Amino acid sequence: MTARRLRSITPFHVMALLARARQLEDAGRSIVHMEIGEPDFVTPAPVVEAGIAALQAGHTHYTPALGLPALRAAIADDYRQRFGVEVSPERIVVTPGASGALQLLTALLVDPGSQVLMTDPGYPCNRNFVHLFDGEPLAIPVSAAQGYQLDAGLLRTHWTSRTVAALIASPSNPTGTVLPRQAMAELLEAVRERGGHLVVDEIYQNLYYADKPCTALALGDDVFVINSFSKYFGMTGWRLGWLVAPQAFIEPLDTLAQNLFLAAPTPAQHAALAAFEPGTQMILEQRREAFRQRRDYLLPALRALGFVIHREPEGAFYLYADCSRFTDDSFAFAHELLETAGVAITPGIDFGRNEAARHVRFAYTTSLDQLQLGVQRLAEFLQC
Ligand SMILES: Cc1ncc(COP(=O)(O)O)c(C=O)c1O
Repeated sequence: MTARRLRSITPFHVMALLARARQLEDAGRSIVHMEIGEPDFVTPAPVVEAGIAALQAGHTHYTPALGLPALRAAIADDYRQRFGVEVSPERIVVTPGASGALQLLTALLVDPGSQVLMTDPGYPCNRNFVHLFDGEPLAIPVSAAQGYQLDAGLLRTHWTSRTVAALIASPSNPTGTVLPRQAMAELLEAVRERGGHLVVDEIYQNLYYADKPCTALALGDDVFVINSFSKYFGMTGWRLGWLVAPQAFIEPLDTLAQNLFLAAPTPAQHAALAAFEPGTQMILEQRREAFRQRRDYLLPALRALGFVIHREPEGAFYLYADCSRFTDDSFAFAHELLETAGVAITPGIDFGRNEAARHVRFAYTTSLDQLQLGVQRLAEFLQC
């Protein structure tokens, strides 16, 4: 028998879809992948070289649980340079991906029965992390008109005596929308009034296509901010992220990190030092531009096919589309699309329950050529 909490922890539907796509590929079918939430680009060469050099130099032991001091300092420097925000390296905890940071945070803040507010649609693991610590995720339905984000008004409506934190992602997965600075400041104020915590997942922060999003760290020292080397830095497989926490929480986070995972991977931490070098930054900015071009192609192309994208995404690499013109079951639609047309997308159900059956997510984590092929196949499929 497994623990009871397993009943509340759901798998990603997209994983089954991905497995089926791979099966079809093994059988010789061509599949356009628009379901995958990771960049198609490999890790930039300077980072790979730094990783190899670290291994050759024997950097194969544990680092301190809070992370390599040089990396914590480099992350703090990056906040200063990119955003003009001063963050003490001591407040930075290096983690195994943003996933490690989310686990640390839920372990830190969530008691059995505690509630955490989040958006629906939203990143699916968030509710499961809360379940893992026997808390209660409160997924608040958010609409296009609300930019698919929580705001102070929604927070006031849904906060209860058991709520301990609000967790948002800006830019968001699956919608790519950004919470503007003023709205973020109001949200933080509302959280402060209630004696709770605001957690902002900024994993897509550097993948922006309009104004540069602010970091929530600019709003106060009491915000928890999560980030990662996975997406913008193209390092998903290295499993490296970080958490910026208020100073008073660093000691308990150290204790938790020591127990939960001892430390983030050492070679990855050394490699990541090269992620902030100008040569790497140049590569990453070219990639951001490539993502912008893909977005600028795919957004009007999908709209022309009849998908309704209510909000133009300002960041990340996703388009969250209303497919109700074609189906009232986006899950079946995604499966049929894969089987019939060889195009893989993610059904809305992976991101929550709020109008999930009318929505799908397209990820532009594949080349422009592939996106064009995908759109062509979609056009044929929809005419059948
Ligand atoms: C919003 C969001 N947060 C966190 C993660 C976890 O990323 P990682 O653990 O690779 O850093 C993801 C991955 O897709 C994500 O979309």
